[in-house]
Amino acid sequence: MKRKYLNILTKITVVIAVISITSCKEEGGMAPEYMPDMYRSPAIEPYVDYADYGNTDVMTARKPVEGTIPRGFQPYGYENTPEGYELAGQTLMNPIAYSDGVLADGKELYGMFCVHCHGKTGQGDGSLVERDKFPPVPTKFSPTLELAEGKMFHTITYGKGLMGPHASQLNQEERWKLVHYMRAQFMGKIPGADTNAVEVVEEPVAVEPAAEAEEAQENEH
Ligand code: HEC
Repeated sequence: MKRKYLNILTKITVVIAVISITSCKEEGGMAPEYMPDMYRSPAIEPYVDYADYGNTDVMTARKPVEGTIPRGFQPYGYENTPEGYELAGQTLMNPIAYSDGVLADGKELYGMFCVHCHGKTGQGDGSLVERDKFPPVPTKFSPTLELAEGKMFHTITYGKGLMGPHASQLNQEERWKLVHYMRAQFMGKIPGADTNAVEVVEEPVAVEPAAEAEEAQENEH
């Protein structure tokens, strides 16, 4: 008698198990999720490309539209080539008006980004060079050095020889302030006192948002 009940109970259990296993299939073959919010956050996560999950309406991890530049970014229209360097030397003028404030800013930037190679005196006696961590810097800044400000700006932007590019660390204004500082401090060229008088506030015509724009965008990530 007892065994008969046990048998029926087993059968009922099996039937319930089969029904529950087979009945809960959703369309698309996905098994139901228990507390789906736990797996799939309703909040938008950064760096998740929702388009990969077929959801193109979610605003995240989108690539910038082609041909666009970050807000406030100024493209630099000279190519990173020897020709671009020469052209910058001939045509680029410092658009920042020279002042004591600009000089102070330039000095601060120089202390943060340049002094360890070029040294306090601009003679390449920076701490890296003195400790043999970097080969002697061939450029020694002095009043006899003939170096157009456009070339200096070009070099700070793209780098030259063993000097790396600084476009991603310093915006154009900061780079021009550095040019003012280096010229005044080491090369005895103070605008107003020579032909470099600056009042031009024109930016170089951007041919195209060149490599620099892409770099800046990459650096945003
Ligand atoms: C890691 C070392 C290093 C750092 C940091 C560095 N430079 Fe240089 N710099 C060099 C070397 C090396 C050269 C010589 C490049 C050549 O002509 O081969 C150079 C050359 C230059 C020149 C001359 C370019 C020309 O057209 O001949 C300028 C101007 C200059 N640097 C400015 C700067 C400024 C401004 C900074 C800071 C934002 C800076 N450098 C940071 C190593 C450095």
